[in-house]
Amino acid sequence: MNLLEVLRNRFQSVLENKVEDPGRYIAMVLPAQNAQFGDYQANCAMPLSKVLGKPPREVAADLIAEVDVSDLCEPPEIAGPGFINLKLKTDLLEQEFAKVFTSERLGVEPVASPEKIVIDYSSPNVAKPMHVGHLRSTVIGDALYKILSFLGHDLTSDNHIGDWGTQFGMILYGYRNFVDQEAYKKEPVAELSRLYRLVNKLSEYHTTVEMLPGLEWKLGEAEQAVNDAEAQFEQDDKQGKKQLKKLRSDLESIRQSVTKAESLVAEIEEDEIYGPLAAAHPNIHTDARLETSKLHGGDAENRKLWDEFLPACLDVMNVIYNRLHIKFDYSLGESFYQPQLADVVEELKSKGLAEESQKAMCVFLPDFKAPFIVQKQDGAFTYATTDLATIRYRVETLKATSILYVVDARQGEHFQMLFGTARRWGYENLNMQHVSFGTVMGQDGKPFKTRSGDTVGLGELLDEAISRAFSI
Ligand code: ARG
Repeated sequence: MNLLEVLRNRFQSVLENKVEDPGRYIAMVLPAQNAQFGDYQANCAMPLSKVLGKPPREVAADLIAEVDVSDLCEPPEIAGPGFINLKLKTDLLEQEFAKVFTSERLGVEPVASPEKIVIDYSSPNVAKPMHVGHLRSTVIGDALYKILSFLGHDLTSDNHIGDWGTQFGMILYGYRNFVDQEAYKKEPVAELSRLYRLVNKLSEYHTTVEMLPGLEWKLGEAEQAVNDAEAQFEQDDKQGKKQLKKLRSDLESIRQSVTKAESLVAEIEEDEIYGPLAAAHPNIHTDARLETSKLHGGDAENRKLWDEFLPACLDVMNVIYNRLHIKFDYSLGESFYQPQLADVVEELKSKGLAEESQKAMCVFLPDFKAPFIVQKQDGAFTYATTDLATIRYRVETLKATSILYVVDARQGEHFQMLFGTARRWGYENLNMQHVSFGTVMGQDGKPFKTRSGDTVGLGELLDEAISRAFSI
């Protein structure tokens, strides 16, 4: 028995004869905010008093006289301006608890209209080490899957693996230039991960070197701005004081960026291994991107390597999933949607949704400054295009009426734009939700990392959790 519903029905039969729109007043029968006042409360006497032209306490008294809850509650009480407090009878509670505890469903009724829900969770980018954020998405997603299934919905889980992104270009470049064949044969994924980090580091070095002069110039400008403002500043000028504060804080943040960039550059240049490597690979950033484009363009060599890397990466992920007892109904990675992307962009264009802007295909949404880019200047499709194709597939083939995305809060804007675009594209009745969660921080208040500077591997983290739990 759903007690709230039963109580609302009792109020409904009385309110129907008093007002034309009982619905909004019935909705004011709610669980009590404070257990001190009982189990439920009806707050409708106050707004009803205006409609019925009677003082609220009087309306409350009339309601109590007419609404029969004597089989469920102790005699209702009126409090304050006209709140009606409802306290359940103890023997009723005892009976209900006995039923709940002996029922397999714990007294939870299945939903009246089940939905077909696709839930997208875990979804790591392969070939990069999986990190603690993926663990969060995995366990939250799995819990939601179980809860929603229990409620009677029809659930499908889909691990939207990132198996087609720019990380592959980096690994391909790394493999061609730096692979340690011995290590690769022994532990392919560990070696690929090392290559990924190496290429990432060297690219970051070069992009930082390129950025540095611009940053230093900005620093000079910001210093000048502070000096000028200080020279003009007069003691009692409130506006000026505010402005000066803002300029100083801007200056400080630019200064920090410069320091950070300089130390990154120095660290690499002084390093015996990284220094010479960085010097020998000045175009690593663009060359790694080129490897990604070649893969996406169908280059046979790169495709062959991708076919070799991917299963190894998936094996490593599956070790984690097995430890967690997690299984997915589908694991359709980003690569699965590649043949559909050109068509998605065509459809968006023909519906007048996507338009060319600075040689890129963009969807402009009213509430966002930045466009939702579905095809880049160089012709490449994006994370956004893949997600749109995924929605189409989930609705048309998997028959989803609802899609939940369990993803880190930092992707919030992406999902808002994705949902906005999908609604205009024709999926206005689809329920789409970003189930967002925060970034996992270390003790230093920064995204969780080990001392060596890499995010903690999930395997190690689970080992530690288990051993700590045992010691407790
Ligand atoms: N692979 C992405 C990441 O690791 C998450 C994907 C989430 N799902 C989606 N349909 N976009 O950040």
